[in-house]
Amino acid sequence: LFFGYPYFSQQDLPYDDDQRGLKDQIVFKFSHVVAENTPKGLAAAKFAQLVNEKSNGKIKIEVFPNGSLYSDIEEINALKEGQVHFIAPTTSKLGMLSPKWGVLDLPFAFPNNKAIQEGLNGHIGNQLLQSLQSEDIKGLALWSNGFKQFTSNKGPILAPKDIKGQSFRIMQSSVIQTQFNQLNAKAHQASFNSTYKLLVDGKIDGEENTISNIYSRKFYNLQKYLTISNHGYLGYAVMMSQKVWGAQTENTQQILLEAMKETTAWNNKNSIQMNKEQLELIKQNSPIEIHELTEEQKQEWIKVLDPVYEELAPEIGNKLVEDMQKLRA
Ligand code: LMR
Repeated sequence: LFFGYPYFSQQDLPYDDDQRGLKDQIVFKFSHVVAENTPKGLAAAKFAQLVNEKSNGKIKIEVFPNGSLYSDIEEINALKEGQVHFIAPTTSKLGMLSPKWGVLDLPFAFPNNKAIQEGLNGHIGNQLLQSLQSEDIKGLALWSNGFKQFTSNKGPILAPKDIKGQSFRIMQSSVIQTQFNQLNAKAHQASFNSTYKLLVDGKIDGEENTISNIYSRKFYNLQKYLTISNHGYLGYAVMMSQKVWGAQTENTQQILLEAMKETTAWNNKNSIQMNKEQLELIKQNSPIEIHELTEEQKQEWIKVLDPVYEELAPEIGNKLVEDMQKLRA
């Protein structure tokens, strides 16, 4: 994508109709870092389409995928400064806003997709979205991508001892960092868009991600081994700045909320299917060696990683961690 820089500068705030061709049209920018053919990419496009339909073309959402506007490290500040109007960062990256978000990154926190939906739609999800208020952010929805898997070049990862000494790119998260420390692996916190190059340059042995991110970013072309481990959750918090939200008419707010509700329901179903289909595509299109943890192997990982619950509970919040543990039971 190429756009002249001035196009993105301060004149792009909503209601700035005079600068645009369409009189009375409100234009919002939605920036995200993944490809278009991913759960988040498709949900952002669907949201834009629904908002357009529901407003009869009066509200336009311009979606900028692939980090073409802002990286995952930059986007929260860009939102706060009003340079972009919607973002959907991975919840793992929201530790800078509140340590509570770390609860979703605890190892093997969700035993299955049903538990993810229970967590996101219940007390845990509500509390997390509410926590954004104190940062002047309007939390709109939680979109799920799915479970993280391990990819590596050093050797198949089946037991916790296999990952020992390996270097991994991880997201910007102290909770994830703690888990890699617990496994005696080296974690390198880096942006999503730098991951491909880190792998090409051999600066890391592996990374952890959902199948849709491994597929759409072609990490599988650079890695010899993939383990279906489902060891952690990856999903998104969709947000606006409170200032931009509060500047909208009730009618606009209503349209945005309705479209978001429909998109969220669609996304949470679609993402499971997408990750399944793209795993098949990886199998068909690459010689990568794929392993799936057996129940017994999974229990071994849980045992090794479980001490981080106690270690991190004071930071995340004891009650929140307790609630999450109930979902695991
Ligand atoms: C990552 O950084 O690996 C993911 O958070 C990317 C994304 O937005 O799904």
